[in-house]
Amino acid sequence: MQNIEDGFYDAFNYFKKRLPTKLSQPKIAIICGSGLGGLAETIDETVCKKVEFKYEEIPGFVSSTVQGHVGKLVFGLLGKNQTPTVCMVGRYHFYEGYSLKQVTLPVRIFKLLGVEVLIVTNASGALNKDFRVGNVAVLTDHISLPGLAGNNPLFGPNLNEFGPRFPPMRDVYDYDLRVLAFKAGSSLNFGAGAMKEAVYCFVGGPSYETKAEARFLRTIGGDIVGMSTVPEVIVAKHSGLRVLGLSLVTNMVALRKGKSADPSSTVDEEPEEPAPKHEEVLEVSKAKARDMQDLVRTIVELI
Ligand code: 6GU
Repeated sequence: MQNIEDGFYDAFNYFKKRLPTKLSQPKIAIICGSGLGGLAETIDETVCKKVEFKYEEIPGFVSSTVQGHVGKLVFGLLGKNQTPTVCMVGRYHFYEGYSLKQVTLPVRIFKLLGVEVLIVTNASGALNKDFRVGNVAVLTDHISLPGLAGNNPLFGPNLNEFGPRFPPMRDVYDYDLRVLAFKAGSSLNFGAGAMKEAVYCFVGGPSYETKAEARFLRTIGGDIVGMSTVPEVIVAKHSGLRVLGLSLVTNMVALRKGKSADPSSTVDEEPEEPAPKHEEVLEVSKAKARDMQDLVRTIVELI
């Protein structure tokens, strides 16, 4: 079997051979989450046509399967400054059965291509009651439950050419980029409170959290919960990329205990939030996709 590291260089050489000079050194990489791939359609083609590669044709890449994810890399010039950008439309998820090395391989390739900033987007459920469906959360920090339990994409021999054995993860979400995110939001007239700073809890999925798990995640400091992003962020930070994480809140997570079957119970029976549904995630993503696209493009223009 081929080493996964060999895949980096195979993919890197593949792109180098096929990209025009103007696109061959992207400054910014954007990972588009569920239903947010439309960003790649907003690439400006007046100076240079965009170039697309389906995952299955890229050496070292595996094809991604989840509903709502297409699976292609799009290179092009984005925003009024014509910033060379690579958009990942559809990402790999751990729950699909990919290893964390496979999930994060594109980030290594972005680094080799010269990318300096990674913008990651995703959909999440809100644990924080002050949040609302449709809010855009700006990640300030994360809690990686799989990571704490031994699933970290950096497990195994360290790739010294990319970064150190023990990379710090404090301040992983770049402060200056977070400031730009809020500036971009206000220039687009996102209402007060439409954007929220948030701690993102990464869970393995694919099953959604139980109510007891949701209360646990809230208690340990999580504002939102989702099944992606953190592996890519860890690898990006290891490689010295600046990282911005944006999350679209697609549902409120059920936190209450619910009805007791015990007739002597005195627990309140407050109404519960409905169970999350993938269709609901996609629906909210679709409704808010334009806002997210405008936000990301405006941030890129400000960088
Ligand atoms: Cl992991 N949980 C919930 N409740 N909603 C989500 C999610 C998780 N990921 C995206 N939306």
